[in-house]
Amino acid sequence: MTVAVIGATGHVGSEIVRGLLKRGEAVDALVRDANGARRMFGEPDGLKIRSTQLDDPSDVTEALKGIRTIFIAMGSVGIQGVLQRIAISVASTISSIEQVTRLSVLNASANSLGINQRAHDSIDRLASALAVPYSTIRPAIFQLSLLAAGHQVRASRTWTGLADSGRVALIDHRDVAEAGLRVLTEPALWGQHHDLTGPVPVSWPEALELLSAELGETVTFRTATVPEFLARLINAGIPAGEAELLIAREWAVLAGENDYTTDSFQQITGRSPRRLEDFLHEHRAEFA
Ligand SMILES: NC(=O)c1ccc[n+]([C@@H]2O[C@H](COP(=O)([O-])OP(=O)(O)OC[C@H]3O[C@@H](n4cnc5c(N)ncnc54)[C@H](OP(=O)(O)O)[C@@H]3O)[C@@H](O)[C@H]2O)c1
Repeated sequence: MTVAVIGATGHVGSEIVRGLLKRGEAVDALVRDANGARRMFGEPDGLKIRSTQLDDPSDVTEALKGIRTIFIAMGSVGIQGVLQRIAISVASTISSIEQVTRLSVLNASANSLGINQRAHDSIDRLASALAVPYSTIRPAIFQLSLLAAGHQVRASRTWTGLADSGRVALIDHRDVAEAGLRVLTEPALWGQHHDLTGPVPVSWPEALELLSAELGETVTFRTATVPEFLARLINAGIPAGEAELLIAREWAVLAGENDYTTDSFQQITGRSPRRLEDFLHEHRAEFA
């Protein structure tokens, strides 16, 4: 039976699609831009790229007929949060669906300072109210987030942020997808929230120390006020909604909400999560 992936062209969703195909699974990628998806994946055996109106419940119903499991990997707020809710609502009406696995975030909770964490909690509540068969993976901030520093680091060997303390065990998004694939395909892991972290919590200044060691040059963290930080984000062309998420994310980091590790990744995959040092080495050119 086929697996459907929603958010199939994103960082995590695209890795899930590739991982499923490697396992020989049949995959339906429900996308808004079929040509873009074909450019991304080609036309491998087992993959059906289905142009889908994700805001139209009847089209989503049609797309999910006969599907056994679904992976959802999208943003939690605004239109993407609405599309996730539509997909979950439709899934709850389709009897062939045995599990919906969703990409959430570490500390998803109504009490978090993070807007993203609160929004994911709200989506979980819908899934619970509809009694959809359901699991989530809840990763820490992705190592990929550090690439946002690339431009400033290249220009001035500095990076400006709000959170000069508070640690996060940053995780490689490919590890997130690997664990997500296991949860999606192994019924023993269904019906649970899986909290995923990288190996070691670091603050942003500590992450820059690792980057300094990689580059052989000192990169310094500059602490901004909220108005300064906001101005930087807007000047960099970050959309308003995303800027709001990033500011709230910094408050959550400062409050120490993310300062812990779990062994879930090791338990699920049987290996250690990738190290930040290795990510920085791999992406050295983007900072040098
Ligand atoms: N970044 C982090 O550090 C981090 C950490 C923990 C958890 N998370 C969670 O991860 C999730 C984001 O995952 P990601 O980075 O893999 O996502 P992403 O790369 O931003 O991908 C988003 C996906 O949603 C699709 N999409 C967006 N808007 C759409 C629309 N209006 N209609 C149809 N499709 C739409 C995109 O399609 P197109 O390709 O067509 O745009 C893409 O496939 C969020 O829920 C976040 O909370 C992120």
